[in-house]
Amino acid sequence: ASPRAYRALSSVPHLEMGAKMTRVAIVGGGTVGGGIVEILGAKADFAQKELGADIQIVKVGVRDATKPRDFEVPAGCEVTDDIESILTDDSLDLVVEVMGGTTLAKDVVLRSLKAGKHVVTANKALIAQDLAEIAGTLASVNAERDDPVQFGYEAAVCGGIPIIHALQRDFLGDDVSQLSGIINGCTNFMLSGMEAGDQSYADALKEASVLGYAEADPTLDVGGFDARSKLRILIKLAFGLDVAEDEIPCRGITEVTSTDFEYAKMLFGTVKLLGVAKLDKPGGDRISAFVSPVFVPSSNVLASIGGATNAVQVSSSSLQNSVFVGQGAGRFPTANSCVSDILAICQGQKSEPFPKQAPADLKFVNTFNSAFYLRIRFRDRVGITADLGQIFQACGVPIYSVLQNPIKDREDAMFVVTTDPVDVSKIKAACVQLEATEWCLGDTFYMPIL
Ligand SMILES: NC(=O)c1ccc[n+]([C@@H]2O[C@H](COP(=O)([O-])OP(=O)(O)OC[C@H]3O[C@@H](n4cnc5c(N)ncnc54)[C@H](OP(=O)(O)O)[C@@H]3O)[C@@H](O)[C@H]2O)c1
Repeated sequence: ASPRAYRALSSVPHLEMGAKMTRVAIVGGGTVGGGIVEILGAKADFAQKELGADIQIVKVGVRDATKPRDFEVPAGCEVTDDIESILTDDSLDLVVEVMGGTTLAKDVVLRSLKAGKHVVTANKALIAQDLAEIAGTLASVNAERDDPVQFGYEAAVCGGIPIIHALQRDFLGDDVSQLSGIINGCTNFMLSGMEAGDQSYADALKEASVLGYAEADPTLDVGGFDARSKLRILIKLAFGLDVAEDEIPCRGITEVTSTDFEYAKMLFGTVKLLGVAKLDKPGGDRISAFVSPVFVPSSNVLASIGGATNAVQVSSSSLQNSVFVGQGAGRFPTANSCVSDILAICQGQKSEPFPKQAPADLKFVNTFNSAFYLRIRFRDRVGITADLGQIFQACGVPIYSVLQNPIKDREDAMFVVTTDPVDVSKIKAACVQLEATEWCLGDTFYMPIL
């Protein structure tokens, strides 16, 4: 921030001038943990003088305390592999969990909360897996306290984008009807490379891994599971509903090919892996959600989000259409979100981590309605169009258009069908029947149209 910004803040009348000390332990001294130490170090004076927050990082918990660190350990801070010593240290006010995983990290989060320490975490896998337990623990701990323990997790969804705070605060008085997001940077990077026409799926995955965009197990990215964890958290925030992760239909990008980008271009759009959650109608009582490759028309802003960038589009009754775009991962974007939570807590701000409660009649349905794109692989025969019409009619799928590029090989070619809005179950039934024909070569691929 510029000095001018500092002056503007210092003139805010309600700030206390005596800085209050907050003793912090960071469990995890890797990419994100190191970033947090660096930002807090660089902003220490600002936090003290302008925000009234004297933040002391007293411990950094790691697996191997002898390993050299790529950040300067603050004076008086101990780097330790004894995580238990952090969990039993009653002098700590706040624990930051940036170690990852869902076993020891769960212990760190729950035990810290139970001990009355504020917690900040970047761990979407843990929150998605144990959302109910975390919320329950927090509620029972705070029921006994006048000064509620705070739980910040801005970094857990879309790294640097402040989407969690926005849903916790800015959409509280609004009614969200749909969320659509590019919430996995690795797959967006891969699809952007494939769209540019110069990369196969395998090459795109290789490059994403080299650049550090892929998880250690890339199945979590390409299979859509990482996006599904984030979508579960976003659904809880936007609609107040806690949906079991495995209830959310999930398909990754492994079936997307360069052919889909050729047809997507003809249809004036592109292919993105999206997490989508929507009400059946504004104010409706059924919510559906999915993670899937989606045909996105170029007129939609999500079509233009390339590379590892993330974006979340929120439709709501008052704000109408809002889009949050930014860095979904990386050391400083993610650490910035943790620091934002830490500073808010140190300033004594109170926030409800999961403020919306779903109305009793709101139900999750694990199917969804959409227009669809189907890519069908076939050997050229007489009667295909008649079979296609018959099958789609029998399954109740209204055809909107049929497209076919010039055939290069009559024994192995592709055509694409787009449909009007229909339930996904009917699309699946039509695929089964198509694949039973003598001319269909299988591998039928379908995706919703946004
Ligand atoms: N990196 C990103 O861009 C990003 C974005 C959004 C969210 N996140 C989330 O942030 C968290 C941290 O990610 P990261 O990229 O910073 O991971 P990382 O670079 O692998 O760092 C993990 C840190 O935790 C420590 N650690 C791991 N297991 C431990 C154990 N059993 N006991 C003690 N210490 C242990 C490691 O210690 P050693 O250093 O000694 O091995 C390391 O310092 C994860 O939940 C991740 O999903 C990351």
